[in-house]
Amino acid sequence: MKRRKFIQTASLGSAALSSLHLSNAPTLAPRPTKSKYMGGFQAKPLQKIKAAFIGLGYRGKDHLQNFATLEGTEVVALCDLYQENVNKKLVLLQKIRPEYSETQPKMYWGDENQWKIMLEEVRPDVVFISTNWVNHAPMAIGSMEHGAHAFVEVPLATSIADLWAIIESSERTHKHCMMMENVNYGRDELLFLNLCRQGYIGELLHAEAAYIHELRWQMHEENKGTGSWRTHHYASGRGNLYPTHGLGPVAQYMNLARTEDSFKSLVSFSSPAKGRQDYAQENFPADHKWNQLQFRNGDINTSLVKTQLGRTLMIQWDETSPRPYTRHNLIQGTLGTLAGFPTRIAREGGVEGITKDHHRWVQGTDLETFYEMYDHPLYKKLNASTKNSGHGGMDGIMMVRIVECLQQGLPLDQNVYEGAFWSAVGPLSAASATQEGMPQKFPDFTRGDWKETKPLAIVH
Ligand SMILES: NC(=O)c1ccc[n+]([C@@H]2O[C@H](COP(=O)([O-])OP(=O)(O)OC[C@H]3O[C@@H](n4cnc5c(N)ncnc54)[C@H](O)[C@@H]3O)[C@@H](O)[C@H]2O)c1
Repeated sequence: MKRRKFIQTASLGSAALSSLHLSNAPTLAPRPTKSKYMGGFQAKPLQKIKAAFIGLGYRGKDHLQNFATLEGTEVVALCDLYQENVNKKLVLLQKIRPEYSETQPKMYWGDENQWKIMLEEVRPDVVFISTNWVNHAPMAIGSMEHGAHAFVEVPLATSIADLWAIIESSERTHKHCMMMENVNYGRDELLFLNLCRQGYIGELLHAEAAYIHELRWQMHEENKGTGSWRTHHYASGRGNLYPTHGLGPVAQYMNLARTEDSFKSLVSFSSPAKGRQDYAQENFPADHKWNQLQFRNGDINTSLVKTQLGRTLMIQWDETSPRPYTRHNLIQGTLGTLAGFPTRIAREGGVEGITKDHHRWVQGTDLETFYEMYDHPLYKKLNASTKNSGHGGMDGIMMVRIVECLQQGLPLDQNVYEGAFWSAVGPLSAASATQEGMPQKFPDFTRGDWKETKPLAIVH
């Protein structure tokens, strides 16, 4: 009796605490007894993976297409708010897999809650979630609670409380919850990971990551599509709204939240907010809904992260200013630098056969032989079959890895804690930027267990 009472009290304590997980909260309740640490988690192998898809707009289509082209996969349900989206994606699916003309997957549309009915009726093995950001957490948690592994678009969630709720659900249900950071599978990102693992630039000290992508045009998607919901975030959100594309890869180069080091604290500042208001005034009538919004989130956000080992990361975000796309993708080591946009490499003593010292970048056509020597084996193996899968092939490589890890019962390349740490830069940058750069501590989503998780291997 005493033991049961203790367990009940302990789990009640943890539930109560989880709603209070503040960014600067110093102590954490222990993980409830039946829950387990999910870093390196291996699920029962799934020979044939039955998948449901929630959100079939711009991004959901890519996942459906890439999943359905792989062997050992079955699409059991499609769900979106709009019947039109579901019907269009069914036609696409039938082109890839003619058998779905005979037996259609179950289809759901019509209101915000159809996905709940779908989970009850279909009981899929996995759910791909590609909806607007506020739906990510309830849909991921709902999927796991219904016995499915959840694969969620970026960012995993937009608040620290939701990130904890996702982790607690994954640990309690023993289900994967992977945030699908496709950029980690880009050619250059895989190349840099390979080089870092080989010690090519020595000990890693500092990284620079970004999502700088001018997306004002999305405001013309006024009633449906990405701009219809994302535009509201530029008004009501704060700080870095989309941190993970740049951060995911550099965090894995540095083995953050895996054995070596982890996220510690962050400071952040935002520029004034100008571009969205100007764009709304120039492109929409005065009484238009975009002109009723006050775009308060600064156009450009810059955060600095300090790790447990004292290493540093600079993370920038700007979806508004007129300038070319970049994710920075820079990693600085004691012996050299790897940088992106454009791809550049410098190394002490020079790069073999190309440069003589670190004062000149290897770039452009000079990189060709370098790619030949150091391309990641996964890229070499999969490029031919995935190069048209989206975003230069990274989407297809990611899906191949998801499917093979599920089929073989292997740990996924990105665990639930990595998704949470990378996404946490969103709410932590908001907290810091609204308090004059006040430092924010990262919650330790692993409760100290990151030291047990092996670095991501160079998988073949
Ligand atoms: N990784 C990448 O490269 C990448 C690229 C683009 C978008 N994204 C992410 O993908 C997600 C979706 O973005 P998008 O551009 O496809 O947006 P979108 O608006 O085109 O698609 C979202 C879809 O979700 C559906 N939806 C919303 N609420 C729903 C509900 N309650 N039930 C069922 N369906 C619902 C909408 O009807 C819509 O079709 C976002 O998280 C975004 O950040 C990632």
